Amino acid sequence: MRIVLVGPPGAGKGTQAAYLAKNLSIPHISTGDLFRANISQGTPLGKKAKEYIDAGELVPDEVTIGMARDRMGESDAADGFLLDGFPRNVAQAKALDESLAGDGLALDAVLDLEVPEDEVVKRIAGRRICRNDSAHVFHVTYNPPRTEGVCDVCGGELYQRADDDEETVRKRLEVYHRETEPIIDHYRTQGLVVTISALGKVTEVTERAMEALKRDAAA
Ligand code: AP5
Repeated sequence: MRIVLVGPPGAGKGTQAAYLAKNLSIPHISTGDLFRANISQGTPLGKKAKEYIDAGELVPDEVTIGMARDRMGESDAADGFLLDGFPRNVAQAKALDESLAGDGLALDAVLDLEVPEDEVVKRIAGRRICRNDSAHVFHVTYNPPRTEGVCDVCGGELYQRADDDEETVRKRLEVYHRETEPIIDHYRTQGLVVTISALGKVTEVTERAMEALKRDAAA
Protein backbone atom coordinates (compact mmCIF):
# COMPACT_ATOMS: atom_id res chain seq x y z
CA MET A 1 0.00 0.00 0.00
CA ARG A 2 1.08 3.59 -0.64
CA ILE A 3 -0.37 5.82 2.03
CA VAL A 4 0.01 9.47 3.00
CA LEU A 5 -0.59 10.45 6.62
CA VAL A 6 -1.75 14.03 7.10
CA GLY A 7 -2.67 16.06 10.18
CA PRO A 8 -1.57 19.09 12.19
CA PRO A 9 1.69 19.17 14.16
CA GLY A 10 1.27 16.97 17.24
CA ALA A 11 -1.73 15.07 15.83
CA GLY A 12 0.08 11.78 16.44
CA LYS A 13 1.29 11.08 12.90
CA GLY A 14 4.69 9.76 14.00
CA THR A 15 3.13 7.76 16.85
CA GLN A 16 0.52 6.14 14.58
CA ALA A 17 2.94 5.67 11.69
CA ALA A 18 5.15 3.43 13.83
CA TYR A 19 2.22 1.04 14.51
CA LEU A 20 0.56 1.27 11.09
CA ALA A 21 3.83 0.67 9.23
CA LYS A 22 4.42 -2.45 11.33
CA ASN A 23 0.85 -3.73 10.85
CA LEU A 24 0.98 -3.11 7.10
CA SER A 25 4.62 -4.24 6.65
CA ILE A 26 5.66 -1.07 4.86
CA PRO A 27 8.39 1.45 5.77
CA HIS A 28 7.54 4.63 7.67
CA ILE A 29 9.04 7.58 5.79
CA SER A 30 9.04 10.83 7.76
CA THR A 31 10.56 13.89 6.10
CA GLY A 32 10.81 15.54 9.55
CA ASP A 33 12.88 12.57 10.81
CA LEU A 34 15.04 12.65 7.66
CA PHE A 35 15.73 16.35 8.23
CA ARG A 36 16.51 15.80 11.93
CA ALA A 37 18.93 12.96 11.07
CA ASN A 38 20.70 15.29 8.60
CA ILE A 39 20.83 18.04 11.23
CA SER A 40 22.37 15.77 13.87
CA GLN A 41 24.94 14.50 11.31
CA GLY A 42 25.77 18.10 10.32
CA THR A 43 25.24 17.51 6.57
CA PRO A 44 24.86 20.50 4.16
CA LEU A 45 21.18 19.52 3.73
CA GLY A 46 20.74 19.49 7.51
CA LYS A 47 22.36 22.92 7.88
CA LYS A 48 20.00 24.36 5.28
CA ALA A 49 16.91 22.66 6.73
CA LYS A 50 17.66 23.72 10.31
CA GLU A 51 17.05 27.43 9.75
CA TYR A 52 13.56 26.74 8.35
CA ILE A 53 12.63 24.08 10.93
CA ASP A 54 13.71 26.25 13.86
CA ALA A 55 11.52 29.05 12.48
CA GLY A 56 8.51 26.73 12.01
CA GLU A 57 8.59 27.29 8.24
CA LEU A 58 8.56 24.66 5.48
CA VAL A 59 11.95 23.63 4.11
CA PRO A 60 11.99 24.72 0.42
CA ASP A 61 10.50 22.28 -2.10
CA GLU A 62 13.71 21.98 -4.15
CA VAL A 63 15.41 20.40 -1.12
CA THR A 64 12.45 18.40 0.20
CA ILE A 65 11.08 16.81 -2.96
CA GLY A 66 14.45 15.36 -4.01
CA MET A 67 15.12 14.02 -0.51
CA ALA A 68 11.67 12.36 -0.30
CA ARG A 69 12.00 10.88 -3.83
CA ASP A 70 15.43 9.43 -3.01
CA ARG A 71 14.04 7.76 0.12
CA MET A 72 10.97 6.39 -1.72
CA GLY A 73 13.36 4.98 -4.34
CA GLU A 74 15.12 2.75 -1.79
CA SER A 75 14.52 -1.00 -2.09
CA ASP A 76 12.44 -1.38 1.10
CA ALA A 77 9.85 1.04 -0.36
CA ALA A 78 9.43 -0.81 -3.68
CA ASP A 79 6.12 -2.42 -2.60
CA GLY A 80 4.71 0.48 -0.61
CA PHE A 81 5.30 3.09 2.07
CA LEU A 82 3.65 5.24 4.68
CA LEU A 83 4.53 8.90 4.15
CA ASP A 84 4.48 11.10 7.28
CA GLY A 85 4.95 14.84 6.73
CA PHE A 86 5.19 14.62 2.94
CA PRO A 87 3.61 16.04 0.85
CA ARG A 88 3.10 19.22 2.84
CA ASN A 89 1.87 21.63 0.18
CA VAL A 90 0.09 21.32 -3.17
CA ALA A 91 3.33 21.63 -5.19
CA GLN A 92 4.79 18.66 -3.29
CA ALA A 93 1.53 16.70 -3.77
CA LYS A 94 1.64 17.29 -7.53
CA ALA A 95 5.33 16.31 -7.64
CA LEU A 96 4.51 13.08 -5.77
CA ASP A 97 1.55 12.30 -8.08
CA GLU A 98 3.75 12.81 -11.16
CA SER A 99 6.62 10.81 -9.78
CA LEU A 100 4.35 7.84 -8.96
CA ALA A 101 2.50 8.09 -12.29
CA GLY A 102 5.88 8.05 -14.07
CA ASP A 103 6.45 4.61 -12.52
CA GLY A 104 2.89 3.46 -13.32
CA LEU A 105 1.92 3.74 -9.64
CA ALA A 106 -0.57 5.75 -7.54
CA LEU A 107 -1.46 6.39 -3.91
CA ASP A 108 -4.00 4.08 -2.26
CA ALA A 109 -5.17 6.40 0.51
CA VAL A 110 -4.58 9.66 2.34
CA LEU A 111 -5.28 9.15 6.04
CA ASP A 112 -6.31 12.46 7.62
CA LEU A 113 -5.96 12.64 11.43
CA GLU A 114 -8.41 15.13 12.98
CA VAL A 115 -7.55 16.61 16.39
CA PRO A 116 -8.75 19.87 17.99
CA GLU A 117 -6.10 22.57 18.29
CA ASP A 118 -6.08 22.72 22.12
CA GLU A 119 -5.29 18.99 22.21
CA VAL A 120 -2.36 19.25 19.75
CA VAL A 121 -0.88 22.06 21.84
CA LYS A 122 -1.04 19.80 24.95
CA ARG A 123 0.46 16.86 23.04
CA ILE A 124 3.37 18.90 21.71
CA ALA A 125 4.10 20.62 25.03
CA GLY A 126 4.60 17.24 26.76
CA ARG A 127 6.37 15.38 23.95
CA ARG A 128 9.77 13.83 24.64
CA ILE A 129 11.83 12.04 21.97
CA CYS A 130 14.72 9.59 22.21
CA ARG A 131 18.10 10.85 20.98
CA ASN A 132 18.96 7.36 19.66
CA ASP A 133 15.76 6.79 17.64
CA SER A 134 13.10 9.38 16.85
CA ALA A 135 10.51 6.58 16.52
CA HIS A 136 10.66 6.26 20.34
CA VAL A 137 8.19 9.00 21.27
CA PHE A 138 6.84 9.66 24.79
CA HIS A 139 4.61 12.17 26.54
CA VAL A 140 5.17 13.35 30.11
CA THR A 141 1.48 12.80 30.96
CA TYR A 142 -0.17 10.66 28.24
CA ASN A 143 2.66 8.17 27.70
CA PRO A 144 5.32 8.74 30.36
CA PRO A 145 8.60 6.77 30.31
CA ARG A 146 9.18 4.46 33.31
CA THR A 147 12.16 6.63 34.37
CA GLU A 148 11.95 10.35 33.75
CA GLY A 149 14.20 11.44 30.86
CA VAL A 150 15.13 7.87 29.86
CA CYS A 151 13.81 5.92 26.85
CA ASP A 152 11.97 2.70 27.87
CA VAL A 153 12.97 0.99 24.63
CA CYS A 154 16.74 1.57 24.45
CA GLY A 155 17.78 3.62 27.51
CA GLY A 156 18.59 6.68 25.35
CA GLU A 157 18.27 10.23 26.62
CA LEU A 158 14.87 11.86 26.05
CA TYR A 159 14.81 15.46 24.82
CA GLN A 160 12.33 18.14 23.77
CA ARG A 161 12.48 19.23 20.12
CA ALA A 162 13.80 22.76 19.53
CA ASP A 163 10.74 23.57 17.38
CA ASP A 164 8.31 22.49 20.14
CA ASP A 165 8.39 25.83 21.99
CA GLU A 166 5.07 27.69 22.12
CA GLU A 167 5.91 30.43 19.61
CA THR A 168 7.25 28.00 16.97
CA VAL A 169 4.28 25.67 17.48
CA ARG A 170 1.90 28.56 16.77
CA LYS A 171 3.85 29.29 13.57
CA ARG A 172 3.78 25.59 12.55
CA LEU A 173 -0.01 25.48 13.05
CA GLU A 174 -0.43 28.60 10.92
CA VAL A 175 1.76 27.06 8.17
CA TYR A 176 -0.28 23.83 8.42
CA HIS A 177 -3.59 25.63 7.85
CA ARG A 178 -2.22 27.75 4.99
CA GLU A 179 0.06 25.29 3.15
CA THR A 180 -0.84 21.73 4.12
CA GLU A 181 -4.64 21.66 4.57
CA PRO A 182 -5.17 22.41 0.84
CA ILE A 183 -3.62 19.02 -0.03
CA ILE A 184 -6.64 17.38 1.61
CA ASP A 185 -8.91 18.99 -1.02
CA HIS A 186 -6.38 18.10 -3.72
CA TYR A 187 -6.64 14.42 -2.76
CA ARG A 188 -10.38 14.57 -2.03
CA THR A 189 -10.97 15.26 -5.73
CA GLN A 190 -9.11 11.98 -6.38
CA GLY A 191 -11.35 10.13 -3.89
CA LEU A 192 -8.37 9.21 -1.69
CA VAL A 193 -9.11 10.91 1.63
CA VAL A 194 -10.05 8.85 4.70
CA THR A 195 -10.67 11.06 7.76
CA ILE A 196 -10.62 9.70 11.31
CA SER A 197 -10.64 11.25 14.76
CA ALA A 198 -7.21 10.96 16.42
CA LEU A 199 -8.65 11.47 19.91
CA GLY A 200 -8.51 8.65 22.44
CA LYS A 201 -5.83 6.14 23.38
CA VAL A 202 -3.01 5.49 20.92
CA THR A 203 -4.18 1.87 20.45
CA GLU A 204 -7.78 3.00 19.81
CA VAL A 205 -6.61 5.42 17.12
CA THR A 206 -4.52 2.68 15.47
CA GLU A 207 -7.56 0.35 15.42
CA ARG A 208 -9.74 3.12 13.98
CA ALA A 209 -7.15 3.81 11.29
CA MET A 210 -6.77 0.13 10.32
CA GLU A 211 -10.56 -0.28 10.10
CA ALA A 212 -10.93 2.87 7.99
CA LEU A 213 -8.16 1.79 5.60
CA LYS A 214 -9.74 -1.68 5.25
CA ARG A 215 -13.19 -0.18 4.55
CA ASP A 216 -11.64 2.18 2.01
CA ALA A 217 -9.77 -0.62 0.23
CA ALA A 218 -12.97 -2.72 0.05
CA ALA A 219 -15.12 0.17 -1.30
P1 AP5 B 1 7.58 17.00 11.35
O1 AP5 B 1 8.61 16.28 12.11
O2 AP5 B 1 6.86 16.30 10.26
O3 AP5 B 1 6.59 17.65 12.42
P2 AP5 B 1 4.99 17.92 12.42
O4 AP5 B 1 4.25 17.64 11.18
O5 AP5 B 1 4.89 19.28 12.98
O6 AP5 B 1 4.48 16.81 13.31
P3 AP5 B 1 5.01 16.43 14.68
O7 AP5 B 1 6.22 15.52 14.53
O8 AP5 B 1 5.18 17.65 15.53
O9 AP5 B 1 3.78 15.67 15.31
P4 AP5 B 1 3.16 14.24 15.05
O10 AP5 B 1 1.85 14.41 14.36
O11 AP5 B 1 4.15 13.28 14.41
O12 AP5 B 1 2.88 13.83 16.55
P5 AP5 B 1 3.55 12.72 17.50
O13 AP5 B 1 3.22 11.36 17.02
O14 AP5 B 1 5.00 13.04 17.75
O15 AP5 B 1 8.20 18.33 10.69
C1 AP5 B 1 9.02 19.20 11.42
C2 AP5 B 1 9.49 20.32 10.51
O16 AP5 B 1 10.27 19.77 9.42
C3 AP5 B 1 8.39 21.14 9.82
O17 AP5 B 1 7.91 22.18 10.64
C4 AP5 B 1 9.16 21.65 8.59
O18 AP5 B 1 9.98 22.75 8.93
C5 AP5 B 1 10.04 20.48 8.22
N1 AP5 B 1 9.40 19.59 7.24
C6 AP5 B 1 9.05 18.29 7.43
N2 AP5 B 1 8.49 17.80 6.31
C7 AP5 B 1 8.50 18.78 5.39
C8 AP5 B 1 8.04 18.89 4.06
N3 AP5 B 1 7.43 17.86 3.44
N4 AP5 B 1 8.19 20.07 3.42
C9 AP5 B 1 8.82 21.11 4.01
N5 AP5 B 1 9.25 21.08 5.29
C10 AP5 B 1 9.09 19.93 5.97
O19 AP5 B 1 2.70 12.98 18.84
C11 AP5 B 1 2.83 14.19 19.56
C12 AP5 B 1 2.78 13.90 21.08
O20 AP5 B 1 1.47 13.43 21.41
C13 AP5 B 1 3.76 12.80 21.56
O21 AP5 B 1 4.28 13.16 22.80
C14 AP5 B 1 2.89 11.54 21.68
O22 AP5 B 1 3.35 10.67 22.70
C15 AP5 B 1 1.53 12.15 22.03
N6 AP5 B 1 0.40 11.38 21.51
C16 AP5 B 1 0.31 10.80 20.26
N7 AP5 B 1 -0.89 10.21 20.12
C17 AP5 B 1 -1.57 10.43 21.29
C18 AP5 B 1 -2.86 10.05 21.76
N8 AP5 B 1 -3.70 9.33 20.98
N9 AP5 B 1 -3.23 10.46 22.97
C19 AP5 B 1 -2.39 11.19 23.78
N10 AP5 B 1 -1.14 11.56 23.39
C20 AP5 B 1 -0.75 11.18 22.16
